[in-house]
Amino acid sequence: MSDDPARRPVRLALGAVVLMLTASLFTLGPADGAQTAGVCGDVRERPWCDTRLSADKRAGLVLARLTLDEKIALLGGDELSGVAGGEGTHTGTSNGLARLGIPTLYFSDGPVGTRQGKATQMPSPMAVASSFSPTTSRAAGAVIADEARKKGNHVVFAPGVNIGRTPLNGRTFEYYGEDPYLAGRMGVGFIRGIQSQGLIANVKHYAVNNQEGEGYAVPGSPIGAGVEGNRLFVNAILGERALREIYLPAFEAAVKDGGVGTVMCSYNRINGTYGCENEHLLVDILKREWGFRGFVLTDYGAAKNTLNSLNNGLDLDIWPGFVYNPVAVRALVATSQVSTDTIDDHVRRILRTMFAYGIFDAPAFRDDASRIDVAAHHARAAAIEAQGMVLLKNSGSLLPLRQRRIRTLAVIGPEADLIRTGGGSSDVNPLRSVTPLEGLRTRLGASRVLYDDGSDAARAAAVARRADAAVVVVGDKMTEGADKMAPTLNAGQMDGIDRDALIAAVAAAQPRTVAVLQSGGPVLTPWRSRVPAILEAWYPGQNVGTALARVLFGDAEPGGRLPMTFPDRAADLPTAGDRAAYPGIAGTVRYREGVMVGYRHFDERRIRPAYAFGHGLGYTTFRFSRPVLRRASGGGGGGDQLATVSFRVTNTGKRAGTAVPQVYVGMPSPGRDTPQPPKQLKGFDKVRLAAGASQLVTIDLDRRSFSYWDTAADGWRVARGCYDVMLARSSRDVTGRARAAWSADCGPGALTLR
Ligand code: BGC
Repeated sequence: MSDDPARRPVRLALGAVVLMLTASLFTLGPADGAQTAGVCGDVRERPWCDTRLSADKRAGLVLARLTLDEKIALLGGDELSGVAGGEGTHTGTSNGLARLGIPTLYFSDGPVGTRQGKATQMPSPMAVASSFSPTTSRAAGAVIADEARKKGNHVVFAPGVNIGRTPLNGRTFEYYGEDPYLAGRMGVGFIRGIQSQGLIANVKHYAVNNQEGEGYAVPGSPIGAGVEGNRLFVNAILGERALREIYLPAFEAAVKDGGVGTVMCSYNRINGTYGCENEHLLVDILKREWGFRGFVLTDYGAAKNTLNSLNNGLDLDIWPGFVYNPVAVRALVATSQVSTDTIDDHVRRILRTMFAYGIFDAPAFRDDASRIDVAAHHARAAAIEAQGMVLLKNSGSLLPLRQRRIRTLAVIGPEADLIRTGGGSSDVNPLRSVTPLEGLRTRLGASRVLYDDGSDAARAAAVARRADAAVVVVGDKMTEGADKMAPTLNAGQMDGIDRDALIAAVAAAQPRTVAVLQSGGPVLTPWRSRVPAILEAWYPGQNVGTALARVLFGDAEPGGRLPMTFPDRAADLPTAGDRAAYPGIAGTVRYREGVMVGYRHFDERRIRPAYAFGHGLGYTTFRFSRPVLRRASGGGGGGDQLATVSFRVTNTGKRAGTAVPQVYVGMPSPGRDTPQPPKQLKGFDKVRLAAGASQLVTIDLDRRSFSYWDTAADGWRVARGCYDVMLARSSRDVTGRARAAWSADCGPGALTLR
């Protein structure tokens, strides 16, 4: 069961009708229409079907045979009815060309699952990020891609790697949190998962798309309309250093390490220029500097100007060839405002990617969801969710609960019998669902569970008092298209239930109370000193009930660590109290905090968070030995590795469990105009150990781990000075330090890197 039923589809459907009327003015797609993909064809007639040739070569052979009109037709999408998410449709379609055997391309959302009829609703990316495990992220991507493939798609619109600049962002749940290194590692894992299934991943939304806009969209209007700082038009003003150090690294990792096949450009403007016509981002950085060889496609309706997009790096306007409609493109070519070389480059990228991913050589298109292993994916969703649950607090080791000692368990709250999902393109219609209440009833037997929906706090407290323990499940509301008005559980809730008051009331009545949060991102926890145990489940996916029962009763450990800081007060957020910084004024938002985003801000200002980035408890305890820093073998030579940090992790408790050692680097400032955050995450690992066991862990630090973006030099530089390398359990719990020196004397214990 999922809330927010069909909000977005209604709005999108209305938008779609308007667009279809307009779009019918143009010729969409190639003259001979769509065709389904088949095997490529006879090599004698179609030399590009020779699979021994490189993707580049094959693309070139097709290109040489295309007419200008056929090329132009390939630059635009052809179908938008699928954005409503219906069975048998696709989020996007780009018709191929029967004459030359070019297959039609099919696209599907997204980061939580396929949005095309029913699909496995996976834990949200925020939950996946909390696993601090690229392997877990990969597993999530693989499930989604498997289903997308069996529903006949080639491209999955995921992962989203925008940075959590503010937890108010309505899409916080869809992203991997506030740290660029973590977001990059998780994004790469997800991409590998998708692409391991033979599908093409799509990293989005490039770039600096960190808010949806303050306020609520007018029902029926295109998503995001009618708000301050609206994502469709907002102009994000930021310095090159913040861009390079905070907002781009996860995209860079997606391209360089993940080998992502496609990139989705974003709606917003970046320093004055829209994402889908931004030469600096699309051409200079993405294609030239990072060497991206795939293709760039638009977010839905994000292209604004045909000429600018054609000349500045946009390859495919997916929605649906609207800005790249053939009439407009042909006119620009005819008047030499766009060269045929430019058209060729866009088409070549699309074809090359199709060849590289075997789309010409794949069996014919088939949308047959009956091939999906529903039960296996349901189980996988629960396993991943357990890996992503974050135990924020566990006084007196209340958790795990001992089943024999619990005769009756009170399960309370407006989100106890539903599964929170975020609205918009990540709202997946689940194949199955097990709510928290259902999971706990299955676990204990229905007669041992006392349920109350939490609509009356006094009544709920009375139910809690009668039981041996209480689990109060509350959530928040987040959606694409609109930011939250406050970083609270209650913001935007329509049912009038004060969730903060409910938790406090239940905890006052029942000393053995566990608060379980289904929130899309960090929320304020004003009641936290009064509740012994707090478990963050995020938007948990369709099998949360199973995962929750396992975690509460200790068959599984809550494996998560926070990918985003939980502030003590809303006023502590980096963008608080300055409307120019957020949500912007008259459509312009100024990233005045520069690189001081998330824990970097809290550290720099010495503000104590409610729960720190990287924090999360398990059911056992670990000791980390003193970190030893060494030059990487080959370091200083041609290799990129500079150093390694080694330490021993020992499970000092009585149960098996996972540790998440984190390595942060504190860099020297090269000058007053380049303030450095006290620490920045540069490595982590996830280690599972039996009780009493120990393991040596080594984390690599490359040159980038010690670099800052030098705006004047327009490049990465290592500053002269002393570097603090910190081993930690969280950004606020450093267990040991080592020093490194770069052209400086940093004392006897320091490792000289140069
Ligand atoms: C979202 C994208 C999504 C697309 C298609 C847009 O509104 O921003 O993330 O992939 O819709 O549903």
